[in-house]
Amino acid sequence: MRPHEQAQPPQDYFRYVNVDAGWVDRRIFWDEAIYERELEAIFARCWQFVAHDSQIPNAGDFVTTYLGEDGVIVSRHTDGKVYVYLNACPHRGNKICFADEGNARRFTCNYHGWAFSTAGELTGLPSEREAYDAGDIDKAAWGPRRARVETYKGMIFATFDPDAPGLEEYLGDYRWYLDAFLDNDEGGIEFLPGTIKSYANANWKFGVENFIGDAYHAWWTHDSGGRAMMGGPFPAYDPKDTYHASVNGHGWEFALEGFGDIAILGSQEVIDYYAALKPKIAARLGELRARLFGSLASAAMFPNMTFLPGIHTFRMWLPRGPRKLELRVWTVVPKNAPQSVKQAINIGCNMTFNPAGTLEMDDGENWEGNTRTNRGWVSRHEKLHYGCGKSRQIEHPELPGIVHEGQFNDANQRLFYQRWADLMNAKSWSDVPQRYAPRYAGRPTR
Ligand code: FES
Ligand SMILES: [Fe+2]
Repeated sequence: MRPHEQAQPPQDYFRYVNVDAGWVDRRIFWDEAIYERELEAIFARCWQFVAHDSQIPNAGDFVTTYLGEDGVIVSRHTDGKVYVYLNACPHRGNKICFADEGNARRFTCNYHGWAFSTAGELTGLPSEREAYDAGDIDKAAWGPRRARVETYKGMIFATFDPDAPGLEEYLGDYRWYLDAFLDNDEGGIEFLPGTIKSYANANWKFGVENFIGDAYHAWWTHDSGGRAMMGGPFPAYDPKDTYHASVNGHGWEFALEGFGDIAILGSQEVIDYYAALKPKIAARLGELRARLFGSLASAAMFPNMTFLPGIHTFRMWLPRGPRKLELRVWTVVPKNAPQSVKQAINIGCNMTFNPAGTLEMDDGENWEGNTRTNRGWVSRHEKLHYGCGKSRQIEHPELPGIVHEGQFNDANQRLFYQRWADLMNAKSWSDVPQRYAPRYAGRPTR
């Protein structure tokens, strides 16, 4: 049975989210039944990031990750293509691969030794002739379920839903923003080796909504961390030329001052590198995106991929139940940068945004608090306020998406939860409303 065939929304999820009034019901961060529906309606349906090309450049290279709670193997086969398939043996269900990453010619299950190619085909069964009679098994039909795989500028995405729109349509005009991060230089980006994993007793959505638009917390939550890193407080918030932009639930909140995030890395060499690169970025992507990249900004692609474009941290929020998340973090660098710049970015990134970083450790405590207070039955039935900046929507001549003015704003969060409720309600992709007419449909954004 295909996951979407079971999709029968038991209720209208807009009873939990009111975008116009600006509130969200706290039960969406706690209830088991809502979480189960998320696994089906969001994680078995949406495109999700699984790896970057630079992490698996050679045949046999693989990583293991998750689409929701479904473990998957992401491997590059001998034909050069990337395949994504369930990390679950079709014989009795054991995990096929226990490693996080590596290089393999095949995967062999621990239990009875069934073997699978790096394209996810069942290729061998121990004692096949002695154990199985003709007609017992059609090996071609019994490989682990494969997901659809598409890439955007080196980023590999997968979905198990055969009816999902293509990746380009799923991203929509968000590609315009992604290009500022992925394609601001001819070499593109690469992921540095090493994955940092951490866990929090928090709902996955709190991590994502923080990155999709919560500039507001930074001045308060990160005050002492910011002082420790920069020798003084964050510069006073100036709403001029700051925005929230949202496309299909994906969001980017940003200033246009050009260097805020890059400066937080604390390396003059990195600042100089980007100062020299900025005119080239402007020639490649236009003046506006050259100012946007590196400014104080954070971004998230629906449902659970986030990054800080100038600080160069990239992270996936993997759900582990309604009250637990697994965070996986990488440093992303410009591929063509000198080694010393890559190293300085890596050090700055890890000093700020890894579990021992000055800024990261502030956040997890808050999100655990947001989640844990819902233990109270009365608290759980209260609403949370998401009304900041409701009247600040604008039409911008250049910025695509649903744009609001002011980086202190709940706009991207509201539109994230609108997309969440749209998907939770939908029986299939054809029921998901179009909330925005793309400017770049069918056209490249660079
Ligand atoms: S469970 Fe994998 S071979 Fe039996
Ligand atoms: Fe934060």
